[in-house]
Amino acid sequence: MFIPYGKQTISEEDIEEVVSVLKSDYLTTGPKIEEFENRLCEYTDAKYCVVVSNGTAALHLASMVLLEKNDKVLTTPNSFLATSNSILYVNAQPIFVDISKDGNIDLDLCEEKLKNDPSIKALYVVAFSGNMLNQKKLKYLKEKYNVIIVEDCAHAIGATFDGIKAGSCKNSDCSIFSFHPVKHLTTGEGGAITTNSKEIYEKLLVLRNHGMYKDSSMEPWYYEMRELGFNYRITDIQCALGISQLKKLDKFCERRYQIAQKYDISFKDTKIKPLYKYDGNSSYHLYVVLVDFNNLTITKTELFNRLKENNIRIQLHYIPINKQPYYKNLGYGDIKTPVMDKYYEQCFSLPMYPLLSNEEQDYVIKTLLETINE
Ligand SMILES: Cc1ncc(COP(=O)(O)O)c(C=O)c1O
Repeated sequence: MFIPYGKQTISEEDIEEVVSVLKSDYLTTGPKIEEFENRLCEYTDAKYCVVVSNGTAALHLASMVLLEKNDKVLTTPNSFLATSNSILYVNAQPIFVDISKDGNIDLDLCEEKLKNDPSIKALYVVAFSGNMLNQKKLKYLKEKYNVIIVEDCAHAIGATFDGIKAGSCKNSDCSIFSFHPVKHLTTGEGGAITTNSKEIYEKLLVLRNHGMYKDSSMEPWYYEMRELGFNYRITDIQCALGISQLKKLDKFCERRYQIAQKYDISFKDTKIKPLYKYDGNSSYHLYVVLVDFNNLTITKTELFNRLKENNIRIQLHYIPINKQPYYKNLGYGDIKTPVMDKYYEQCFSLPMYPLLSNEEQDYVIKTLLETINE
């Protein structure tokens, strides 16, 4: 038995919902798809939602609809690969902008870039760890520079900023979610795109299903492919799990908040510095801490290994995307992101999931403090 950094919470009700779909007529393209989409719209305040096979597919489809070849897109190095990969999928050009102290893209630096280069088309932000971007600033950038905005909310379902919900797209064109098991709510693999634009919504529906059109005015057997789409469908089995999980999402977030508060208190006046203080915005997908290893005898690798020996699996979010060999080969190796580089030296993520018991959390805190203080 080991304590991971994240894992799912599955109840008997979840299992019953999944089993009932297995006994029904539709395993896929059935009624659970729209039901999950409607529930997600209600939860996020967005007008439209398209559920898909994973968060990466959600980003890919959003990019297909919003971007054109060679478009310049500002984005963050502090994310999972999928965020900027989705820009490359459509032959557009990611431009990595440094992060600010809270781990999110620095919107002031984004503004400088937008000022200096009016040809920049879009801004892909990530609500890192569940901490939403400053919505006032996003609104200002969108209005002043007429820039397309995608919010990658893979970490952020359940988060708010000044009452604006993650995924509501109040100040963006699309938001995306991931329902991977380490996320707040899971469908095994799964994802969603939300938007308030009917036009974007209709394009997404077609691209999710091979670019195929079919309507009641056509012959009963006839379908027509007008563009190149994909099979990015999600199953009814998965959506039944998602609907059931969504009912418990607020409780999950509440429990994550308690865990975060306990970490905050335990690390006060220690060498472990929480990335940011909870201020009512975050949904705490991750609890990231910073440690200055230059002032310790132990290295980061040794810390990871020592905790692993004690059955605690911490994680690191993230290796700067621009430093990945693939991106270096594309010429991104020399880009200067000093805040990100320093963050990467110091950061790691502690166990954070609703089923983490008080005893387990005490054990994590004690082991970590002892190892760091040796
Ligand atoms: C910020 C971010 N964006 C996108 C994704 C991709 O989601 P998925 O794994 O569902 O494809 C992830 C998944 O880890 C993520 O953390």
